Amino acid sequence: MARRFARQFEGGKLVVASHNAGKVREIRDLLAPFGVDVVSAGELDLPEPEETGTTFAANAELKALAAAQASGLPSLSDDSGLAVEALLGQPGIYSARWAGPTKDFGAAMQRIENELIGMDDRRAHFVCALTLAWPDGHMETFEGRVDGTLVWPPRGDRGFGYDPIFQPEGHTVTFAEMDPQAKHAMSHRARAFAQLVAACFKD
Ligand code: IMP
Repeated sequence: MARRFARQFEGGKLVVASHNAGKVREIRDLLAPFGVDVVSAGELDLPEPEETGTTFAANAELKALAAAQASGLPSLSDDSGLAVEALLGQPGIYSARWAGPTKDFGAAMQRIENELIGMDDRRAHFVCALTLAWPDGHMETFEGRVDGTLVWPPRGDRGFGYDPIFQPEGHTVTFAEMDPQAKHAMSHRARAFAQLVAACFKD
């Protein structure tokens, strides 16, 4: 999705259009080397738009656009989730919703485990769509993916969401057991972020 002539982020304030503390923390870490003045949608008390899109990219775009128009500042959103191969890509764009209103990811991980009973295929991947939107409606969107295997029981207490059951390809630890820097070096979010930086951030 990277475009050769993407609009450049000219510096200054950038809104991270998310109310998810785990995502905001990871995006802040990823933006740290660029000297960007990050403010989160939560800190600005921006409303959370309903995620009515049917793809990660569509949801990322509606969230970034809503934040950019409400704040008058360039805004970066992340729509991401876990796609389980044997469940035909579920929970996918419904990853947050599977945890319910209390955001109980223990229950969401248990639901995945229950639905996989009797199935040998443990493959899954995380997807992340990142959109940078400007108040005039211009948007740039990038997608990253990381493949791995689901483990049971959950392991580790770092990261967030489904990290304790996701073991990335080529590794023997889950995302929740890894040092955050190691996750940042390979995650779906980091891969989308690398494209965003290459396209929209000056060296
Ligand atoms: P949304 O993009 O706000 O709809 O929510 C995405 C959901 O996907 C999060 O609440 C997590 O449950 C899950 N998710 C996305 N990225 C990650 C990750 O890096 N680790 C673990 N879970 C993730």
